[in-house]
This record gives sequence, C-alpha cells and structure tokens, in this order.
Amino acid sequence: MKLLEGERALVTGCAGGIGRGIARALMAEGAKVLGSDIVAPPAEDGIDFIAGDLSRRDGWRMLLDGAVARLGSISLFVHAASPRRLEADTPLSVSEESWDAMTGINLRSGFFLAREVGRHMIEHKAPGRILLITSQHRETPRNLPHYSASKAGMTMVMKELARVLAPNGIRVNAIAPDAIPGGGFVAGNLGELVAQIPLGRAGTPDDIAQVAIAILSERFGRYVVGTTVEVDGGLGLMSWIPAKA
Ligand SMILES: NC(=O)c1ccc[n+]([C@@H]2O[C@H](COP(=O)([O-])OP(=O)(O)OC[C@H]3O[C@@H](n4cnc5c(N)ncnc54)[C@H](O)[C@@H]3O)[C@@H](O)[C@H]2O)c1
Repeated sequence: MKLLEGERALVTGCAGGIGRGIARALMAEGAKVLGSDIVAPPAEDGIDFIAGDLSRRDGWRMLLDGAVARLGSISLFVHAASPRRLEADTPLSVSEESWDAMTGINLRSGFFLAREVGRHMIEHKAPGRILLITSQHRETPRNLPHYSASKAGMTMVMKELARVLAPNGIRVNAIAPDAIPGGGFVAGNLGELVAQIPLGRAGTPDDIAQVAIAILSERFGRYVVGTTVEVDGGLGLMSWIPAKA
C-alpha cells in the first residue's frame, strides 16, 4: 500500500520547482492531487491543474472554492506558491507593490488558505495535514525584507494554526528549504554556493518532496506538529566564519 493512498491534496505553486516536485511525489504515493498556479505545470507531469492567482485579494477564496468543487474534500494542503525573488528588491529599494505581492501570496493567502482548509477538514472530520513551505530566511536576513518577513510570518501562522487544529487530529508543519536551484531560486554563482554547503551539493525539488511525504504521511509523521524541518544540506549551519573540521 502506498503511503498516501486515499488522500486528496491541494498544492499551490505546482508549476514551480518545489511545488511541482511535491505534487509529483504525492501522486507517486497514491494521493489524488490538484495543483494550482498562475501558469500550468508541464503536461507530461499529468498533474490535475486549476489556475489560481494568489496575488488577487480574493484569489485564495476562488482557489479554495474551485478546489473543493474539483476534489470533493481536501485532506492534504501544501502552500509552495511564491513570487519570483528579485535581487533588486533590497531593504532600501523594495517598492510597496513588491511588498504587497510577496506578503500577499506567501503570508496572506497562505494563512487564509490554511485556515479555511483547516475549517473544511474539521467539518469533514478529516485528520488532515497542512504544510507551509517557508525558508531558511525566516530567521536570517536575505537582503529581501518582504521575502524574509513573509517567511517569518508564515512560521508564526503555522504555529498558531498547529495549536488550534491539533485537537481535531489535524497536523500543521513547515519545511524550510534552501539551495534548491531551478524555478524561483537564483544563485549568483552556483559553484560558490555549493562550496558553502556542508553536504557538498545543491538540493533538488525531490529532496524537499521526500521530507514532505514523510511529514504528511501518518506512517512517519503522525506525531509531528507545529515544527519546521530544515532541508538545506546543512547550509543553514554556516555563518561568515568558515567551517573548520
Ligand atoms: N528554491 C529554494 O532554494 C527555496 C529556498 C527557500 C524557500 N523556498 C520556497 O519554496 C517555495 C517554492 O519555491 P521554488 O524555488 O520552487 O520557486 P518557484 O518560483 O519555482 O515556484 C513558485 C511558484 O509560485 C507560482 N506563483 C507566483 N506567483 C503566483 C501567484 N500570483 N498566484 C499563484 N501562484 C503564483 C509561480 O508561478 C511558481 O510556479 C517558495 O515558497 C519559496 O519561497 C525555496
């Protein structure tokens, strides 16, 4: 029996690197998956797709209504959608428009989607699971204040919801990735970055997806609530002081 047989999953950001990797892994483990994004995922993935623009104020509500109509009920929710990180959006230059887009998609839509999915799970008496994709930069500056602030906010949203939903058997958690090239990740110099990673290689979307499967499955993750799992090859351990064996 596959790990997620019978589960019904909604995955935002399903056309991007990490969201797409998670959607594919969920399908491989037997879940029925509905992916959402502003662009369609590649047809060869076979991900059932619903368009949803989370930069619109009502975007999260339209997505949820559409997802419930298509899936019937939702037992797994993953929020991986996020706008492109633009290196020009430094603390002294980021515009209000960029701030609103970043926080609107990551934090505002992330919170309302997760909360409403949580309510829906309570209604359906489903021991559901919710997973927010945050970042190493929820704690460390990234020269992208709207990005790091939204990820810090998502972390608190995850904890707030985890406490109130756990008594209904609903587990809420987060994964904080780093160094997963492709999609929205832009490394100025990949070689230099890899040299900083204790494991000695960049990550892949599947590195994140396999941890997501473990957290979302009741076989491995059943007692995991309100926590953030860092999946970054050890990059988060590095500081400006170089490692010394
Ligand atoms: N790649 C990494 O190393 C890394 C590191 C830390 C955190 N993350 C987080 O992981 C998640 C996925 O990142 P990724 O690298 O796969 O990025 P990505 O850009 O490949 O994927 C993000 C997806 O969100 C979608 N999106 C953008 N605007 C949208 C909107 N208005 N409405 C709906 N969808 C929209 C994009 O179309 C894209 O497919 C993000 O939350 C990101 O912050 C990634």
